[in-house]
Amino acid sequence: MHRWSCLLALCTTFLFYISVTTATEEVISGIVQHQQWFSEYASILEETMQIKRRGNSNATLSFNKELLKLLANATIEMRSIDNTTESAIIQSDSIGQPCRALLLEMFKIFRTIGQAELQGCAANTVGLLGYWTTQRFFSFANIVHRDATELTHRVALILEEYNKLTQKDNILEILREEYYQFNSYNSALQEVLNRELERFARTDHPVRAALSDCLNTTVKLHQLDMDYVLTYIDTGCVTL
Ligand SMILES: *[C@@H]1O[C@H](CO)[C@@H](O)[C@H](O)[C@H]1NC(C)=O
Ligand SMILES: *[C@@H]1O[C@H](CO)[C@@H](O)[C@H](O)[C@H]1NC(C)=O
Ligand SMILES: *[C@@H]1O[C@H](CO)[C@@H](O)[C@H](O)[C@H]1NC(C)=O
Ligand SMILES: *[C@@H]1O[C@H](CO)[C@@H](O)[C@H](O)[C@H]1NC(C)=O
Repeated sequence: MHRWSCLLALCTTFLFYISVTTATEEVISGIVQHQQWFSEYASILEETMQIKRRGNSNATLSFNKELLKLLANATIEMRSIDNTTESAIIQSDSIGQPCRALLLEMFKIFRTIGQAELQGCAANTVGLLGYWTTQRFFSFANIVHRDATELTHRVALILEEYNKLTQKDNILEILREEYYQFNSYNSALQEVLNRELERFARTDHPVRAALSDCLNTTVKLHQLDMDYVLTYIDTGCVTL
């Protein structure tokens, strides 16, 4: 479909071109050859981008799973701290009932704070993920897509520009140069995209590191909070 409309554009340009300059057989077949190369390049590029877009979804999904594991791990550690603390308060036989009730209230407050902080870590990560999982890859992918769309019109555009002048002799050279330049430009872009696809693989990825740090700190502070509650068992709440 795309290809046909482009060929049509090309033919129109051709007629104009031929009527003005009477191109040689060699030049015409050279132009047709380049048109074909550019078209094929465009479809290959489209396919490549589809594969890379799928790769991007997969990388994003895997990354999210990994982050969820970190979150699950921290949740288990928090629960374990809560469990140990609550059990210690319930099972202590050195404190009376009013003290025990008070400590259970304190425990519940710190448990709630810990849960809120854990959710804060998750919320921050979600904020960062938007940039990493959508914006970055797609801004590069969109450039490639725009170029692929332009590619099919490239030959016609070049012809249009040059048939105004009497440069038919070097038209093939210009097409060759165009093709060569696009090829190296695209190779560079694909390199960038490949790096983008591997971007989650880094162990020091900023999102993973940020979440990990946040969870680590939250678990540590939670442990300190609960240790603080437990010190009241030793004094039988008399310092309160
Ligand atoms: C998806 O990504 C994971 C981790 O990066 C990888 O192991 C797996 O092979 C990928 N699957 C596909 C279908 O690309
Ligand atoms: C959580 O992570 C820590 C450190 O990475 C690890 O030692 C621990 O075994 C993990 N806990 C669970 C329940 O996966
Ligand atoms: C703590 O965990 C143990 C084992 O899973 C369980 O038997 C106990 O009831 C828990 N303690 C509290 C206070 O939930
Ligand atoms: C979490 O804390 C532990 C112990 O303090 C430390 O060994 C580990 O490297 C920390 N992890 C991260 C991701 O900061």
